[in-house]
Amino acid sequence: MQINDNVFTNSEKITFALRSLYLSKGYVPYRMSKFEEYDLYAKNKDFLVSDNVITFTGNGGKLMALKPDVTLSIIKNSKDIPEKTQKVFYNENVYRVSKAIGQFKEIMQSGVECFGRISDDDVCEVISMAADSIKLLSEDSIIAVSNLDIIESVISKLELSSTQTAALISAISEKNIPAMSEICRDESVFNVLKELISMYGKISEVVPKLESLLDEFKDFEEILEKLKSDKNADMIYIDFSVTDDINYYKGLVFKGFIKGIPVPVLSGGQYDNLMKKMKRNSAAVGFAVYTDELERLDLSSNETDKEDDEYLNVALPKGRLGEKVYDMFARAGFECPSILEQNRKLIFENADRKVRYFWVKPSDVAIYVERGAADIGVAGKDILLEYEPDVYELIDLNMGKCRMCVAAQKSFEDDSSRTLRVATKFSNIAQNYYRSKGRDIDIIHLNGSIEIAPILGLSDVIVDIVETGTTLKENDLEVKEEIVPVSARFISNKSAYKFKSEEINAVVAGIKALLEE
Ligand code: PRP
Repeated sequence: MQINDNVFTNSEKITFALRSLYLSKGYVPYRMSKFEEYDLYAKNKDFLVSDNVITFTGNGGKLMALKPDVTLSIIKNSKDIPEKTQKVFYNENVYRVSKAIGQFKEIMQSGVECFGRISDDDVCEVISMAADSIKLLSEDSIIAVSNLDIIESVISKLELSSTQTAALISAISEKNIPAMSEICRDESVFNVLKELISMYGKISEVVPKLESLLDEFKDFEEILEKLKSDKNADMIYIDFSVTDDINYYKGLVFKGFIKGIPVPVLSGGQYDNLMKKMKRNSAAVGFAVYTDELERLDLSSNETDKEDDEYLNVALPKGRLGEKVYDMFARAGFECPSILEQNRKLIFENADRKVRYFWVKPSDVAIYVERGAADIGVAGKDILLEYEPDVYELIDLNMGKCRMCVAAQKSFEDDSSRTLRVATKFSNIAQNYYRSKGRDIDIIHLNGSIEIAPILGLSDVIVDIVETGTTLKENDLEVKEEIVPVSARFISNKSAYKFKSEEINAVVAGIKALLEE
């Protein structure tokens, strides 16, 4: 039977290519049902990408789920044979809420799992296969590898609570030095962490830095030594901002990136802690390729696009703050004189400096950067806390300073026996704040002129930005509680950083130097 290539979608072509790759490496196909008892996910919610699961009642009255994940089922349904190495691969549909559309989506996922007795060679083979998997799709691809044992052993000296540990890991994953320093009160530990997350490079460049920074990293070093001579060594970068849940993962974690795709297309690691949680006496390593992210990938390379990729794309917040920020970029060497022309254009570029600026609504900068339309940008911390985009937060610019506050009429007194009515543009910030205090609230989401809500009896309090305090004063309101200080932050798309780290680091260094002047 002859089948014309054109009838396949990208995602199907990729699935077939990956299947033949995994078969050629001796991995065995693993087929499974689309359903699983919900209990499995209820017990391992944090392991899932999103904790929303589609459930239904099965024939026997059991609560069942449409699979949001494959790994948990493979481990649950396989035999625990600690002395044997089991190697399987799968192509399965999973059902998850996609962050981009806020809805459940059927996602085709391919991946491999290697479990049982695992040697360093098995771990290296899996990483190299991860590299092969994305190299099939694009020559411009990178596997970014981190080691959670190193991060854990450094932060174990801090004696943090589990909430603080989660906050610190999240700051590490954002390369967010100010947030790290807030949690990390021990200066020497902070300095080591700061060094670790600032390192990004190939194995041969990073190992000497690790040697001078850490007393010991034998296990990781042995793996890196092997990976250094792997055929894919040039694609493997060390990046300690790659993190995952330490309750499930242990040792190596890694993510795969393709130039031009704003999110990771592959994610994996050693999940020995999950095995332990599922009462297995053995180890495991594996990864999944998110084929749905690849639907728009041009599988035939295109030279013109490549040239376009070389530009550094910057989203600037329209207004006075954006003008100040542009001035800093220009002084850091990324000038673009046409931006100063008086017209209503929104995109400007400097072909010599290979930089392109867009003026966007301040509250949209984070979206442009998270979705990769811009590589970097400047966004207020209020917007970052509200939308929680998956981006790097590289510098606190100490500009556009204000406070996120709870405000109310002067006469207002909280009655904790009643649900508090909160009017705000920042529903997520308000929810998180009151949840942390254990206070029951009703959110009234408004888009502006929040201050009039308590005056008209629409709400008891507001959660809003206070800069000079004039708006509150003129409406007879006052600050009751301060939630968090806000300032402008320099953010970067995580995938763009992988491929344009030199340019982005040059801007970062230039701006940091100006801030220290
Ligand atoms: C923000 C905020 C307050 C005001 C606070 O409004 O929502 O209303 O600024 O500033 P102040 O303390 O200096 O008076 P914005 O100008 O963004 O308008 P909006 O509320 O209509 O979105």
